[in-house]
Amino acid sequence: MKQNILKHLAIIMDGNGRWAEQQGLKRTKGHEAGAEVVREITTYCANHPTIESVTHYAFSTENWKRPKLEVEFLMKLLDRYLKKELATYQEENIRFVAIGDLSQFSPKLQKTIAVTMRETRDNTRLDQVLALNYGGRDEIVRAANRVLERGGKITEESLGAALDTPYRDIDLLIRTSGEQRLSNYLLWQLSYSELAFTPTLWPDFTPEELEGLIGDFEQRNRRFGGI
Ligand code: FPP
Repeated sequence: MKQNILKHLAIIMDGNGRWAEQQGLKRTKGHEAGAEVVREITTYCANHPTIESVTHYAFSTENWKRPKLEVEFLMKLLDRYLKKELATYQEENIRFVAIGDLSQFSPKLQKTIAVTMRETRDNTRLDQVLALNYGGRDEIVRAANRVLERGGKITEESLGAALDTPYRDIDLLIRTSGEQRLSNYLLWQLSYSELAFTPTLWPDFTPEELEGLIGDFEQRNRRFGGI
């Protein structure tokens, strides 16, 4: 019997660079392959009976430290991905949501993000959330400032509601590529999450592997601090 129902899934997609290097390819090829996997996994989630949202870590506040060419490639890939994906979002009834400090992106990319959000905002089957120029600490600081600017008092409720993802607890976090860290991801929303780590590099991650990890999650005993 299932102990848990998975509604909110988050994924740290790690290992694109290693995947490419292992095959003698440029790191950017790994990101291209990784973007295809984002599509497959999102479609799987949209067709899953209980998943309501999937939040992918696509670009962190620390990723600006990468070589300029790699950063530029990731920006272009994202722009292309969103433009191409719009048809899928509409077909699969997926709402696209971006979280993070979007103000640092080029006006062109900001526009693509805004248009994709606007065009898909009434879709209801799945929220595909992309964390872009996202950092968990940065999100909490920006939320605190929003509450203070409105003259409010900081409470769990007011701060939670002012986050980019309003007070949505993540049920399961998956990180690929064998690393076992949070890397400043969804620090507030992961407070009671179950964690799953797999050695699979992100471009090799499949809906079948995801299904296995979900099955394992459904059997876990979540106590939320109780007994
Ligand atoms: C980690 O791999 C992945 C990222 C820095 C970003 C994730 C980006 C994608 C999956 C592709 C773009 C996404 C979309 C939605 C278009 P890494 O480069 O850190 O791998 P490594 O640790 O092996 O070097």
